[in-house]
Amino acid sequence: MSRGIWSNCETFLRNCWYVIAWDHEIPADGLFARTVLNEPILVFRTATGFAALEDRCCHRHAPLSKGRKGGDHVRCGYHGLKFDAGGRCVDAPGLDRIPPQAKVKSYPLVARNKWLFVWMGDPAQAEERLLPDNFSNDHPEWRNKPGYMRYDTPYLLICDNLLDFSRLSYVHEKTLGGSTAIAQARPEFEMLERGVRVSRRVPDVPPPPYYQKIRKFDGKVDRWFIYDFLFPGAPMLPLGIDAALVRYRRLLDEAIERERVRN
Ligand code: FES
Repeated sequence: MSRGIWSNCETFLRNCWYVIAWDHEIPADGLFARTVLNEPILVFRTATGFAALEDRCCHRHAPLSKGRKGGDHVRCGYHGLKFDAGGRCVDAPGLDRIPPQAKVKSYPLVARNKWLFVWMGDPAQAEERLLPDNFSNDHPEWRNKPGYMRYDTPYLLICDNLLDFSRLSYVHEKTLGGSTAIAQARPEFEMLERGVRVSRRVPDVPPPPYYQKIRKFDGKVDRWFIYDFLFPGAPMLPLGIDAALVRYRRLLDEAIERERVRN
């Protein structure tokens, strides 16, 4: 199928952290495979954390994820080459001397608040300060429900979808939306070091149907959406709803009106 204008979506930002998995997805004694930027990657646990290697043996390109894990090593399931967590071949059955080119690519990997991040670019530039602040994944005051969703579409369309809250009024009308005022609210934009912040404030609207299932509201509410979209595709999305602000503003409006009438 032709992807038309989206055909250039195969060009990726490389010097970035990408979420490759939840930490619970990586088995204690097994091997885990996932494709990132069209590269097959193997992830496994080591004594000190996690390792990420190219999931393609340097010998005949068999997926290493089909092999066996042994301690901090993985052995290819085809002819038995054994690799350490840095991708170096440390055992080649039938060979006394291992050729230096017998190695697979390794990737910097960091575990932070239940997510595993893999660095797809120059390893020398893999700085942890560039990780998004995903604290709410693992915080006692936040509830967290892990998940994984695969989209069969160019990733830029997903970024576009997530960046534009006007869709809530229509595609999510009966759940998160509940009011056309979201689409009508003027968004504010702010450039961040590695992304953009999009904010909308939507005052005095009915509570959305989805929220009404969670708690009871007494009248209309104020809503706010603050969206930090961090390159290459980490959306940090605090949403809020507050009836108290509506009541406060009405009291204020009434007080101003009383003052106006008095004068
Ligand atoms: S393909 Fe891996 S050892 Fe041959």
